[in-house]
Amino acid sequence: MIEFRSVTKRFGDGTVAIEDFSLVVPSRRTTVLVGSSGSGKTTLLRMINRMIDPTSGGIEIDGEDTSTLEPVKLRRRIGYVMQNSGLLPHLKVIDNIATVPILNGVKRALAREQALELLDTVGLDRSLAERYPNQLSGGQQQRVGVARGLAADPNILLMDEPFGAVDPIVRDELQRELIRLQRELGKTVVFVTHDIDEAFLLGDQVVILETGGRVAQVGSPSEIMQSPANEFVASFIGTERGKRALSIRRTARGRVLVDGAGRTAGVLVDEPATTGHDVDSAANSGADSVAQVTVAQDLGADATTGAVLDAAAGPSNEPSGLLAAEPIVR
Ligand SMILES: Nc1ncnc2c1ncn2[C@@H]1O[C@H](COP(=O)(O)OP(=O)(O)OP(=O)(O)O)[C@@H](O)[C@H]1O
Ligand SMILES: [Mg+2]
Repeated sequence: MIEFRSVTKRFGDGTVAIEDFSLVVPSRRTTVLVGSSGSGKTTLLRMINRMIDPTSGGIEIDGEDTSTLEPVKLRRRIGYVMQNSGLLPHLKVIDNIATVPILNGVKRALAREQALELLDTVGLDRSLAERYPNQLSGGQQQRVGVARGLAADPNILLMDEPFGAVDPIVRDELQRELIRLQRELGKTVVFVTHDIDEAFLLGDQVVILETGGRVAQVGSPSEIMQSPANEFVASFIGTERGKRALSIRRTARGRVLVDGAGRTAGVLVDEPATTGHDVDSAANSGADSVAQVTVAQDLGADATTGAVLDAAAGPSNEPSGLLAAEPIVR
């Protein structure tokens, strides 16, 4: 268990990053700190392994006051995974992973053997061991980052926006892997993100932060979703999640499906009442990814039940490769 007790952090220039923060982080569970930029997430995380020391208040790990512990030793028994993996560019993958165990006194050959096993653990092929970080994809680098965080077999794993820099598909994959790993390993994970969906997906306990590390709400994802503690939480959950919510808008081109940010996600194709249920996705030549989605009935009275949506999501506000398609009558 990690316990923050009335922790305040004032930096040299007078910035109060954290003010009177208290929290219990239960063992062998994932606690997610979520909040917007500058709310103090990284500062909180770094105070756990004493990369930053509190100005006042204290942090205990399993009842031990961390201010009495030697920072370097403490750091080596706590895994830390950074955004952009934080790998050392001049070291091969295997050496990046084996460094901390070797510093901890593990024999080099054993540390390297364990590093190979860790590649298995995080779902990477052992053939990548001899590469340098810049010879890996972003997602692979993040996995190596996780392997490195796990290398000293720490009870505690700190993860600072570890999946922030990869594309959404790789991110989904990494999130699923982390859930699997955590089921297997049962570490005390403190995970930082500004993405509320990621927080709800990964967290057993979610801590929503306002500026200054003020705790807006602590609870399980379902507790927070069912009863947001205040307006701030409601709007944080609302706006963030709204980005993914779909709604229907009438335009000159017909009925268009837009996401919460106003981007076109697809065009609705009304099906003839008695006929087919499909749209030929091949008709959307030029679209990189074409998804066919049956429109859920709860999209509103505006949506024709059973209508078929042909969605080709694009990154811009412009519809990408959308729909000159006619419904196919089978
Ligand atoms: N070394 C420092 N000196 C002065 N102010 C700092 C220092 N490090 C962080 N801060 C300030 O403390 C506050 C919290 O910063 P922190 O990095 O913890 O935020 P964060 O929630 O991790 O943000 P982000 O999501 O952008 O990473 C910010 O106002 C930041 O400018
Ligand atoms: Mg940060």
